[in-house]
Formats: sequence, structure tokens, C-alpha cells
Amino acid sequence: MEFLCTGIYITFFFCTLLLHYLIKKAKIEQKHKAKLPPGSMGLPYFGETLQFYSQDPNVLFATKQKRYGDVFKTHILGCPCVMVASPEAARFVLVTHANLFKPTYPKSKEKLIGPSALFFHQGKYHTHLRKLVQSSLSPEAIRKLIPDIEVTAITTLDSCVKAPVTNTFQEMKKFSFEVGILSIFSQLDSSYKTELKKNYCIVNKGYNSFPTRFPGTAYQKARKARERINHILSTIISERKRTKLLQKDLLGHLLDFKYDNGQTLTEDQIADNIIGVLFAAQDTTASVITWILKYLHHDRELLQAVKDEQKSIFELNNGGKLPLTWAQTRNMPKTLGVILESLRMASIISYTFREAVADVEYNGYLIPKGWKVMPLFRNIHHNSEFFSDPQKFDSSRYKVAPKPNTYMPFGNGVHACPGNELAKLEILILIHHLVTKYRWDVVDSNNMIQYSPFPVPLHGLPARFRKDETQSVATEPSSNRP
Ligand code: HEM
Repeated sequence: MEFLCTGIYITFFFCTLLLHYLIKKAKIEQKHKAKLPPGSMGLPYFGETLQFYSQDPNVLFATKQKRYGDVFKTHILGCPCVMVASPEAARFVLVTHANLFKPTYPKSKEKLIGPSALFFHQGKYHTHLRKLVQSSLSPEAIRKLIPDIEVTAITTLDSCVKAPVTNTFQEMKKFSFEVGILSIFSQLDSSYKTELKKNYCIVNKGYNSFPTRFPGTAYQKARKARERINHILSTIISERKRTKLLQKDLLGHLLDFKYDNGQTLTEDQIADNIIGVLFAAQDTTASVITWILKYLHHDRELLQAVKDEQKSIFELNNGGKLPLTWAQTRNMPKTLGVILESLRMASIISYTFREAVADVEYNGYLIPKGWKVMPLFRNIHHNSEFFSDPQKFDSSRYKVAPKPNTYMPFGNGVHACPGNELAKLEILILIHHLVTKYRWDVVDSNNMIQYSPFPVPLHGLPARFRKDETQSVATEPSSNRP
């Protein structure tokens, strides 16, 4: 009897929720002529969060796209969402009507990065900050970093050789962190770097943990580490001000900035944007490098073609004794093709989130105010309409430029990645040194994926690195380098 009563209560509870949802939907649609996009909202309250977590979200979204078309609704992580999987719809959200869709992140994550980081904002503040970040990552700025990035690449690869088995992703994270630091601070005292790295690692770990107020949890440890980072940055800023060092790095741009009324950025705004850029730069670049190493290891012919391209540059540089030049890094078409295709194949940022700031109509469909909108980059990158045989790794496909708005590994519009040229530059440099002086064998090659939070090969692609004994080369980090 007790069992029956519980059953009736549960059924009643769900029926009430369903009724509530149907009434709300009817009211929204009544208010507007447009209809909500097709799609299923799943269970009342829970939506389709369970499916989202229990299966590969990319497969889930692809199945839905087949069933409902390029614009469809769902309900995940407690929010009603509209997914957009066509280049036109993604352009509408990210470019032409970007003012109607604001970036949206969970508050717990905003607090860890710092609420003033540019990617949480839109409007004037975002425009100002973006200009500063873009200037520090412009071609003129990043070309000066080449010698230091080379040294960092060689140091990273030498450290891979020392370990019996390397977790490729973890080592590449160290590399992309160092390059991030270079673009933010130019040269940074090693004691500050060590402290920043130590605390940033804790923040990074806490970012993907469950946010709670309990002391000792990964999230709370991350909050504490983030406070310590503020102190470290404050000391670095005071020192920069004291020495009146004029640098055109990100810190220099942030410190120099003045609004029309003469007001400067606060220390918190500067710190949040430094951590924001480090955060945007590290795991993304490291994931892509890890995929490239996997793809190249898998395709020996392609690897040989990349080696041939890089070896001819290496010979021109007197067997690696001269540093790479900017012009050389701009003329590595085969290697660049591999990077571009890896970005498409792996689509490590599969989608992004925005939130409608008003009721918006797109193609006869209503996107209600407050709903999340998710442009699905990966679905577009893997659509045979835009990329023939999309599951095939074909690095030569970029000889012809992809159709507009179909290739978006770095996003699109006002929030598109300002670090994309630096990312490509550091990957080209790393590959140059890797294929001319080292070899690597993937241990336990399989096709399993882990989410860290971006997709990477399982266990970060364990690999054995060794020096290529057939080459008699200069691998000393700074020997003969200006
Ligand atoms: C292969 C590596 C990278 C990939 C795939 C990547 C991808 C992206 C994407 C897709 C966005 C747009 C997100 C959105 O619209 O919601 C973005 C934004 C951003 N990225 Fe990257 N990124 C990479 C490397 C970097 C690097 C190296 C830096 C800086 C040194 C950087 C700094 C940023 C910043 C600051 C934003 C926010 C821009 C804004 O909101 O205006 N990224 N990135």
C-alpha cells in the first residue's frame, strides 16, 4: 500500500511539472507569432542532462540534428537551450546579431577566472579590453617571441626524452603555459613563474570540480589559490611600475590603458584578464598539439612529408644552428595544413554558449529571452556538405579556402580567438623541432578519448620520446641563438 502511494505521489509530481512546462510553452508561443524550434525538452526539470552526460554529446547533437534539422531545442544542465548547427545560424548568433546574445558561464567558474576577464563581457568594456589583448597578440608582437618559444620547445622536448613514458598532454600544457607567460610578461623572474604555475595548477584543477562552500574541496582550494595569484600579480605589477619598464606585452598594454577621462584599469581587472588569457591559452593549445602528435604518428606518409618540409628549413638554418625566422614560420604549408585539419577533426571546442538578452526571431523560430544558445562548431566541421568525407584526415583540403562560416576552430565574430596566430606559431615551432630532432612512439594506441575538459586521447597520449640519432644537430636550448 505504501509503495502504491509513493508511486501515485511521484506520478502526480511529474504530471504537475509537465503541465507547468506545457502551459509556459503555450504562453511563450502565444505572445509571439514565431514558434519555438523543434526538438525534445526531455524530462520535466531534468531535461536531457542525463543523455548529455551518459553519451558522447557530439553523437547526441548529431543524432538530434538529423532528426530535427539545423536549429533545435533541448534542455540541459537546468537550462532551456537552442542548438544551432548551420553556418548561417552560427553567424547570426556570433557575428551579425552578437549584441542580442551575451556570453554566459556558470558563476562558480567566473569567480575562479575573475569576473572582469574579457570573455564574460560584451559592449564597451569588452571592446576596450579586446583591443589591448589583440595588440599584445598581433603579428608584430608575437614575431619577437620566436627565439624564446624555440628555447621553450626544445626544453619541453628534452624533458619528454628524459621520462620513460610521457603524458603528452601534460607536457604540452607546460609548454603552452610558458608561451602564455611570455606573451603576458615577456621575461618573468623564475621565482614568480614557479609561484604562479603552482597556484594556477590548483585553480585549473578546481575549475572542473563541483563548486561547494566546504573547505578542503578542490573548488575551495582553487578559490584560495586564486587569491594567492592576486597577491603575486600585485607584486609583479608594483615592480613593473617601480622599474618603469616599457614593454609591449599584455601586462604593458593593460597598465598603459586609460579611458577618455584618464581612468586606468584596476589591479583586479588586470589580474582577471591575465588569468583569463592564460586560461584561454593553455589547455586549448596543449589539446591540439596532443591530437597532432597522434595523427602524425598514425600516418607515416604524412609525417614524412612534414619532416621533409621542416628538414629543408633546418638545413637552410645551418643544421638548426640559426634561429627560425618569422618568414620561415609563415611558409610551412604542409605543416600548417596538418594543424588546420587537426583543429577541424578534433574540434576541441565543440560548441560555445551564449544567452539571448531579448526574445529573438531567427528563420521563423523564436529564441526566448534567457534561453541559452549553442553554436555547434563540431557538427558544422563534420558536415559532408562543407567538408567532403569529413571523417577522413585530409591536410590538403585547405588548398581551397573553406566556405565562409564553416571553419570555426577559433570561433567567429566579436569573441573570436585573439590568440589564434600565437597558437599556430607555437605549434609550428614545436613541430619544427620535434620532427627534425626527435622521434616519438605512442604507447597503447587506441581511439579512446578523455575530456580534460577538452577532448584529448585517453591518458593524455602516453608516448616514448627519444632523440633522433640519425641527426647530428644543435639541441642546446640557446646555443648559437641570439
Ligand atoms: C589551438 C588553440 C586555441 C583554440 C582552439 C582556441 C579557441 C578559441 C575559441 C573557439 C574562442 C571563442 C569562444 C567563444 O566564442 O565563446 C576563443 C576565445 C579566446 N581565446 Fe582562444 N583558442 C586557442 C588558443 C588561444 C591562445 C594561445 C590565446 C592567448 C594567448 C587565446 C586567447 C583567447 C581569448 C582571450 C579569448 C576570448 C576572446 C573574447 O571573448 O573576446 N586562445 N578561443
